[in-house]
Amino acid sequence: MRDSKYHSVKPIIDPAKPQLYIETYGCQMNVNDSEVVLSVMQDAGYSLCEMMEDADVIFVNTCSIRENAEQRVFGRLDLFRLEKQRRPDVVVGVLGCMAERLKEELFDHPAVDIVAGPDSYRDLPRLVEGAKGGRGQINVWLSHDETYADISPVRMDRNGVSAFISIMRGCNNVCSYCIVPFVRGAERSREPQSIINEAESLIANGYKEINLIGQNVDSYLWLDPSNTSRQINFARLLEKVALIDRKVRVRFSTSHPKDMSNSVLYTMAMYDNICKHIHLPVQSGSNAMLEKMNRKYTRESYLERINRIREILPGCSVTTDVIAGFCGETEQDHLETLSLLEEVQFDGAFMFQYSERPGTKAARRFADDVPPDVKKARLNQIIALQNDISLRNNQYSVGREYQVLVEGSSKRSDEQLMGRTSQNKTCVFPAAGYKAGDLVRVKVTSCTSATLICEAIS
Ligand code: SAH
Ligand code: SF4
Ligand code: F3S
Repeated sequence: MRDSKYHSVKPIIDPAKPQLYIETYGCQMNVNDSEVVLSVMQDAGYSLCEMMEDADVIFVNTCSIRENAEQRVFGRLDLFRLEKQRRPDVVVGVLGCMAERLKEELFDHPAVDIVAGPDSYRDLPRLVEGAKGGRGQINVWLSHDETYADISPVRMDRNGVSAFISIMRGCNNVCSYCIVPFVRGAERSREPQSIINEAESLIANGYKEINLIGQNVDSYLWLDPSNTSRQINFARLLEKVALIDRKVRVRFSTSHPKDMSNSVLYTMAMYDNICKHIHLPVQSGSNAMLEKMNRKYTRESYLERINRIREILPGCSVTTDVIAGFCGETEQDHLETLSLLEEVQFDGAFMFQYSERPGTKAARRFADDVPPDVKKARLNQIIALQNDISLRNNQYSVGREYQVLVEGSSKRSDEQLMGRTSQNKTCVFPAAGYKAGDLVRVKVTSCTSATLICEAIS
């Protein structure tokens, strides 16, 4: 087993080695998986390159969550095909969730040499060797215990400030609309000491913020194999990570409304360095829809969770995910989603139109019967309302002071820096000698629905 403490966390760039180019789509789990892939491939002698034109091997790490996510990848494969026409020796691999969902079918696309599901990444060097002989290679086996615990991801983020650690893989919930359990397999928690080691190694390499990620972090559970009465749940893991260095921030996502325990909230309250932000996807405000989605909570129990958060953690921000136009959704169901958004006053939301995914319970049992224009209109109403609410929430921050962890230059200008508050609000302010990794006290001078415009005061 390799010890993460002795492993480089940054890519080793060497133009003399065979070159690997990786594109990543989908959630943070996938971003982190690409870092595991780079670690495996770097050990097999490859070096990361930034341009597809320089690559000997092209990997695209894919997402299946909605149809448009897959369409985007097919667009990229068409481009990789052109590259292969120019340079026939280039090897193209489709990795991740689409590989798992579509399996051999992906070989119908002329660009594809390798199909590798999310649990097969240790096997990539062998698959690449096999593909060089001109034959399609596939490994879509799903594991019950693979967590890549002993592999230290090679970080591809540009800021060197904030890093993601996967604490678990897969998902055991069967939300009826969702493809994730089919493409990521059964839920499994990662051995806690390997998580601590990885966090320590990141901190030793200068990282200032650790994001613990999983599809449902609240169901993290590690049973000590030598003494199964010794358990580590998510609250305990969070505490252990927060205690490594009280100056290093800790974040986590995603929480599930049916599983988020008060002990997680009390742990957050105890440690200043655990960021005061919870991403708690609600999906719908209608009990009929929540039942059909198999979410296992009601509007009322969700609101009760929100009340507990506000009681135990005043000032904690809450964000959510919403799906518009799920099977059988009536105008009344939709109005209940709008009223829930009004009632909770979320700090932000990711909002989607329902996209039917083949093989899910919803696809098999329910008609996708909300017409596309109605879905779109409902989504637009949800977005418009939430933008108003986000703006109002941000306006409340104007004139107030926050501690911001600087991540780098703002998108618009090198003279402006971008960072986040503990509540995960994006702030921009004049650079004035500060740099990535600094904790800066700022005062908010104005805002938009997405950004707090600030000035540094320390
Ligand atoms: N594990 C998290 C998030 C999973 S995917 C959770 O349980 O909430 C991120 C979001 O994508 C989901 O919260 C949901 O809002 C959205 N999503 C998932 N499947 C979808 C589908 N078939 N159509 C539209 N949106 C979907
Ligand atoms: Fe999908 Fe539900 Fe699992 Fe989230 S909890 S990944 S929405 S099945
Ligand atoms: Fe997409 Fe797979 Fe993540 S389907 S959202 S990349 S787990």
